[in-house]
Amino acid sequence: MKLSIINGSPRKRTSNSTKILNWIISGLDKTEYDEIEYIAEVKKQDEILDKCKKSDSLLFCFPLYVDSMPAQQKLFFEKMEKYKMDFKGKTISFIIHSGFPEMIQSESLKEYLEMFSTDIMEMNCLGVAIIGGSEALQMAPDQMFSRQINELQSVIRSIEDQTKFPLDINIKINKRDKLTGFQRFIFKINPLKNFYWIYRASKHPFKVNLKDRPY
Ligand SMILES: Cc1cc2nc3c(=O)[nH]c(=O)nc-3n(C[C@H](O)[C@H](O)[C@H](O)COP(=O)(O)O)c2cc1C
Repeated sequence: MKLSIINGSPRKRTSNSTKILNWIISGLDKTEYDEIEYIAEVKKQDEILDKCKKSDSLLFCFPLYVDSMPAQQKLFFEKMEKYKMDFKGKTISFIIHSGFPEMIQSESLKEYLEMFSTDIMEMNCLGVAIIGGSEALQMAPDQMFSRQINELQSVIRSIEDQTKFPLDINIKINKRDKLTGFQRFIFKINPLKNFYWIYRASKHPFKVNLKDRPY
């Protein structure tokens, strides 16, 4: 079985998506796969699309962007749709992840991906795994994500055996779909959260004024 592994993050190689995909790759032993493809390199999308047409199965990993997906990812899906007949019957799986911890945010994207792959593309969707709270992945040690890594073992098994993801996979990865009232309270008052955003803003090439309110 030949698997194409596609990273849809605009951050490409340095993305949290790469880190998640490497967790998956480290568990694959009976699947043939090429190196991760980065579709944010938009000029390479047609070449990547041709490689995908030759695979038996596709795995996508990308972050939640404004409750949906990065534009480059959407562009790639639109290109796939044009060659629907080349993908019909193949298997497809998704791992989507969000900066904020509540997985409920990603539920409508999950529904869209199931509908896109099954109804529009007539592919066999093995599942959509959701990982909440991925923002700190790059900075934190893997031990902090041991539950997620453990639960992703069943995603790896599904991809290897070409079977559906377990129905309860997302509750197992995230524990719950929303924060509890107490967790929301702690999140609101947590001073570290502002420290983190100020740190990210300081790395931005443009001058960012955190007091700006564009909406
Ligand atoms: C433009 C933009 C929009 C985002 N929108 C959301 C969002 O709606 N919900 C959320 O939880 N995180 C959102 N995030 C955070 C990303 O999902 C999060 O940082 C993710 O870990 C990035 O993964 P990557 O490094 O693979 O790109 C957004 C980030 C950016 C840059």
